[in-house]
Amino acid sequence: MGLPEERGRSGGGSGVREEAGARSRARSWSPPPEVSRSAHVPSLQRYRELHRRSLEEPREFWGDIAKEFYWKTPCPGPFLQYNFDVTKGKIFIEWMKGATTNICYNVLDRIVYEKKLGDKVAFYWEGNEPEETTQITYRELLVQVCHFSNVLRKQGICKGDRVAIYMPMIPELVVAMLACARLGALHSIVFAGFSSESLCERILDSSCSLLITTDAFYRGEKLVNLKELADEALEKCREKGFPVRCCIVVKHLGRAELGTGDSPSQSPPIKRPCPDVQISWNEGVDMWWHELMQEAGDECEPEWCDAEDPLFILYTSGSTGKPKGVVHTVGGYMLYVATTFKYVFDFHAEDVFWCTADIGWITGHSYVTYGPLANGATSVLFEGIPTYPDVSRLWSTVDKYKVTKFYTAPTAIRLLMKSGDEPVTRHSRASLQVLGTVGEPINPEAWLWYHRVVGAQRCPIVDTFWQTETGGHMLTPLPGATPMKPGSATFPFFGVAPAVLNESGEELEGEAEGYLVFKQPWPGIMRTVYGNHECFETTYFKKFPGYYVTGDGCRRDQDGYYWITGRIDDMLNVSGHLLSTAEVESALVEHEAVAEAAVVGHPHPVKGECLYCFVTLCDGHTFSSTLTEELKKQIREKIGPIATPDYIQNAPSLPKTRSGKIMRRVLRKIAQNDHDLGDMSTVADPSVITQLFSHRCLTIQ
Ligand code: PRX
Repeated sequence: MGLPEERGRSGGGSGVREEAGARSRARSWSPPPEVSRSAHVPSLQRYRELHRRSLEEPREFWGDIAKEFYWKTPCPGPFLQYNFDVTKGKIFIEWMKGATTNICYNVLDRIVYEKKLGDKVAFYWEGNEPEETTQITYRELLVQVCHFSNVLRKQGICKGDRVAIYMPMIPELVVAMLACARLGALHSIVFAGFSSESLCERILDSSCSLLITTDAFYRGEKLVNLKELADEALEKCREKGFPVRCCIVVKHLGRAELGTGDSPSQSPPIKRPCPDVQISWNEGVDMWWHELMQEAGDECEPEWCDAEDPLFILYTSGSTGKPKGVVHTVGGYMLYVATTFKYVFDFHAEDVFWCTADIGWITGHSYVTYGPLANGATSVLFEGIPTYPDVSRLWSTVDKYKVTKFYTAPTAIRLLMKSGDEPVTRHSRASLQVLGTVGEPINPEAWLWYHRVVGAQRCPIVDTFWQTETGGHMLTPLPGATPMKPGSATFPFFGVAPAVLNESGEELEGEAEGYLVFKQPWPGIMRTVYGNHECFETTYFKKFPGYYVTGDGCRRDQDGYYWITGRIDDMLNVSGHLLSTAEVESALVEHEAVAEAAVVGHPHPVKGECLYCFVTLCDGHTFSSTLTEELKKQIREKIGPIATPDYIQNAPSLPKTRSGKIMRRVLRKIAQNDHDLGDMSTVADPSVITQLFSHRCLTIQ
């Protein structure tokens, strides 16, 4: 396809790209007739009709869907206006501008009062320990959210304010985000696996006036003292001249001391002896969630927001190394996540849905909270990890709640595959109907295992390609309609118009490989980068005017199936999480021993990709295992455990072009011991490469 040689990396060790030729001829799997029979979209032909209509008449298509929601005032003007072409002016996207609504009202009040589903379980909460469980109905969730909205109001939170949330997967996290949405305040959720430095950076970037956090939690056997990390972050904010005035703390591990209380989300039984977690308390700033909730009233009128008002900010790695605050808006996001949830998982009222993603990522925002709730679904909210207390945790939990639709990441599947079939087949899984994956390309081997063992060959797999920026699914099979090919995200969702471009920006027809772009807006597209619209335009719209550029390469086979080939920028995908090489490199060079660093992705059997770092030391420093440990610690502290490198190699010098650019393409080959280096005419000093080959890291450190 003529991509520059630096590009076109595959999804790491999955072998996806290597099998590119074989894949297009790969066997396809028809949707099971019993799924098609009752599906919202029962055939490929019906999908094609609906997809065509969604592109030809987007206003009518989405207008019909919008009628299912509550609008305080209808859309007064054009349903959709946009400009995708930087050469014609500012990039903007407006769906239903001028209409007013509230997403919290739509996912709770509307479900309780209009749909009369108040007594339906919204979430089964499954804690880190299998015995720690509780459940919360739509009505109970609404009460909690109203209470907490009043708490936030009392703390002075108004429409447009930013609120940072740093919490594990507990019901209060959902309550906190919906309370922000009810008030029209923007939540900025920071994954609880991120470091205090990352939290501080995000709080500062969007000047959050309040933080909501938790005392501590367990991830498997590991105790995470979250309050300590939150304290460090707030201290760093203060040092940088931005004192956050209020920090609300949920007593989660210390919950047992609270007694049962009235609130279902305050009373999960804690079987594990509660450790003595030391929490420091900052008088005047820290407040206990449960104390504030006791004083708060039941009624809370939602803030009516414009459909185009911002709903939340969620940070994603940027290729420059600075995370970008992706902004989603109320109306379009609501329509898009509700619709993708309904069709992609073929949702029916009696379903029990389980998305294993953490709410700290977009998958959790869209398919733990907003999408399922907008449909009145019952979901599992899972605090734990797939391997604790043992590797059959996911399947015992599927049986426990009779999960019908299950959504996880390829990295989890690869991890569990290693333990063989028995931990899966020991459990019935008879309730399962549809399986899903997200976050990275799934290698056919993992797909086939998921299909054969987990789904007992009965369940269609929806391999959903999308991004933080897209709000919801973009390329995906529909369970009752789309014949699946293992490793392909198949076809575009409604409203999505993909194209494959070559380097010159020409649209390629038929079988082709190139840049994956989208030609027209869908309701869930991000609207800007918080505080930096220019970055939004540059990142997604400058390279090919008139298109949204995903940053992914893809190929389309002779049957029109799309196959994602991986990022074409300097981004890495570790266990389905995007990291930028620049962000890890800057954490490395902050260490006094490191003069220069270059980070590349390296195939990994479970994570897909892992980090392989080359470091050039300053004079007077020697490379040692103590130093590599220090560097790993540094990265964990600056970014978080997900960015911990698997390999760190001493590089007396780095291969560079004559103009001084680090040749990452060559470094990737060195890491893999691949001597087929391609065109080396631009390398300044070839002897550097020989030296690096001879000092490769052979084992994970
Ligand atoms: O490279 C693609 C990969 O993950 C990137 C988006 O990452 P993030 O914004 O963190 O969102 C992840 C969850 C939606 C994409 O640019 N990606 C995501 N899903 C897939 C995928 N690559 C291949 N196949 C997928 N199904």
